[in-house]
Amino acid sequence: MITVFGSLNADYVFAVEQLARPGETVLGKALSILPGGKGGNQALAARRAGAEVKMVGALGQDGNADVAVAGLRAAGINLDQIARIDAPTGMASIMVDASAENSIVVYPGANQFARATQIDDAELQVGDTLVCQLEVPIVEIEQLLVRAKERGVRTILNLAPAQPVSRTALTSVDILIVNETELSELRRQLGLPETDSLTASLQQVADLIGGSVISTLGAEGVCAWHGEQTYRVAALTVDAVDTVGAGDAFVGAFAAALDTGETFDRALHYGTVAGALTCTQPGAQTAMPDLDRIRSRL
Ligand code: RIB
Repeated sequence: MITVFGSLNADYVFAVEQLARPGETVLGKALSILPGGKGGNQALAARRAGAEVKMVGALGQDGNADVAVAGLRAAGINLDQIARIDAPTGMASIMVDASAENSIVVYPGANQFARATQIDDAELQVGDTLVCQLEVPIVEIEQLLVRAKERGVRTILNLAPAQPVSRTALTSVDILIVNETELSELRRQLGLPETDSLTASLQQVADLIGGSVISTLGAEGVCAWHGEQTYRVAALTVDAVDTVGAGDAFVGAFAAALDTGETFDRALHYGTVAGALTCTQPGAQTAMPDLDRIRSRL
């Protein structure tokens, strides 16, 4: 069983020829209003990859709330512990250009009111998995990670978007997932010296937190430090039309594979395939592959 504690957004996705530069106005070619939020995206990716999933977070009472959870509801994710708040549902403004590059602004709205107390200790069971990202209040994530770790839950933190996290919380993380920018921000925060070696970089962070570290590398796949060894998995080659949600697909499918008993190495492959396939269609949740599709490309 996976519990995802995180954000739920309505994504306003503008297809543009080129991303707007500072001071520039560009005309959009199309607008889609889609379910999003890193929390919701990772929950859906995990569910599609075969895990039982509970989503915990906060929504407003507006029309965007329905947008944000429509896909999760249809996929059979448990939504019983989502709070309804008197604040606008979280929203993201996303530009995607002709070369599949994107630029995202998130207004957190109701996500700021997600609380760790929405999850009881009794729900944190040995063998279960907790997945968090950083679009809900950090202090709540920190408390939840510490509680979950103490109770024998497998804890996965996706450090996105990059923000400082306390050492206590980091040492409660079993598996930390970062992209290259988040890795350098974290190393700066931890005061670690510069190194040209990605493996050494991951190992240093892993030693400091006492867990495993995975760096996603976009079209280069992933590199990880786990159990005193390095893992590298190349990305699938795909024709990318929209990379929004690819990182979330990796996290969700990786977590689902581990939660359903796959090895760390195999889970990296599940995540990598899911991330690449998500780039082949527009949108985040709308593009996430199911288990059969992932397995067919492993
Ligand atoms: O990772 C992609 C997600 O980031 C989008 O769905 C958007 O809502 C933001 O949270």
